[in-house]
Amino acid sequence: MLETFVSSGSASRSMEDAEPDAIPAGKLGRGVQKDSRQMDYQRIFQDAIDRLHQEGRYRVFIDILRNKGAYPNARCFAGHNGARPITVWCSNDYLAMGQHPDVIAAMEAALHDVGAGSGGTRNIGGNTHYHLDLEAELADLHGKQAALLFTSGYVSNEATLSTLAKLLPGCIIFSDELNHASMIAGIRNSGCEKHIFRHNDLEHLEELLAAAPVDAPKLIAFESVYSMDGDIAPISAICDLADKYNALTYLDEVHAVGMYGPRGGGIAERDGQMHRLTIIEGTLGKAFGVMGGYIAADKVLIDVIRSYAPGFIFTTSLSPVLVAGVLASVRHLKASAVERTAQQDRAGKLKAMLAEVGLPVMPSQSHIVPLLVGMPRGASASRTSCSLNTGSTSSRSITRPCRAAPSACVSRRGRCILTRCWRNCARPCSKSGIVWN
Ligand SMILES: Cc1ncc(COP(=O)(O)O)c(C=O)c1O
Repeated sequence: MLETFVSSGSASRSMEDAEPDAIPAGKLGRGVQKDSRQMDYQRIFQDAIDRLHQEGRYRVFIDILRNKGAYPNARCFAGHNGARPITVWCSNDYLAMGQHPDVIAAMEAALHDVGAGSGGTRNIGGNTHYHLDLEAELADLHGKQAALLFTSGYVSNEATLSTLAKLLPGCIIFSDELNHASMIAGIRNSGCEKHIFRHNDLEHLEELLAAAPVDAPKLIAFESVYSMDGDIAPISAICDLADKYNALTYLDEVHAVGMYGPRGGGIAERDGQMHRLTIIEGTLGKAFGVMGGYIAADKVLIDVIRSYAPGFIFTTSLSPVLVAGVLASVRHLKASAVERTAQQDRAGKLKAMLAEVGLPVMPSQSHIVPLLVGMPRGASASRTSCSLNTGSTSSRSITRPCRAAPSACVSRRGRCILTRCWRNCARPCSKSGIVWN
């Protein structure tokens, strides 16, 4: 029988109840004689955690093992009676490529051929031939001259944006207000002037561009598919503005690569706009199912990021085993549209099913299925997520969204479970919500 994964509520309770004496003595520990004027580090850290509990934002991570070949089924270790079978509704492995036989075979072959690790930074350990093959494959995917791998999508955004803007004296960045935290971190770390434009608002973007000095270097940073609401950026119109105001463009296609376009090149490929973008960034951990991040651009731009970005230079490169897996995944999705077509079909069915039973699915132009759960003021996202887990499913709350894989949700049974869970938790909405994709 399928069992329930119960999220934050019970787990956070047990954290609150934990014996503080379990913390060893030392600078953070108790039991050390203290001068009352000394900094109480322990208190500060504990207060920070307490604040999260009070605000309902304390995170507890599910303890699971996915069942290879039976996506989206998994075993959950939440209770004390061993693993229980659950259906996972939250995953960014959109196309189950993390379990694809070609990907697994490629990883096994690489492991047996070259061993587990890359041997260090690329400066020290070299490129590993897999890295170069994958970079060539990704450059080709986006119609660019070159590509560069990073250890994650987060790192690629942070490293590229911060480095690029530092290299352009007086650079001004124009950033969509809903950009991902990794882009925000990169922009902040660049130390350059930034202007936030209202989400997907071309008029506001133009107003800001027009107000900037004509001769200042400019960069427009935005995403293609926004993962919270599932809407899509007007890429072509943003490129028109970039042309008009002589700005570079940086597009995060993290939720779109592998998923859109004839070869999985993303929304820019679907819309015939790839050649107009200065830099396209993607992840290898979502639709491609493994791990890593990358940028694709002109040769010189890639060379400059390779040569100057600390987030690229000073970290051990991805394991060749991972890279071999991604290589198989990218090659497969370039040639096969079966997975992305089926996923779109299921996302559409899920939206229809949810609407059919009267659940408030928000309009979405993409595979993302945003369901605004809402909570009474004072309730927490984590407790709402807890209510949604009262079936055979695992869903997670993020402060704003929680997402699930449509492939897990398109059965009638799935709909029944969801409807039952919904009755347990749905309330008139505050702005916070839960999004499933
Ligand atoms: C829009 C966006 N960009 C970048 C990232 C980071 O990608 P990664 O998970 O590969 O670090 C995420 C992760 O969820 C994302 O949603």
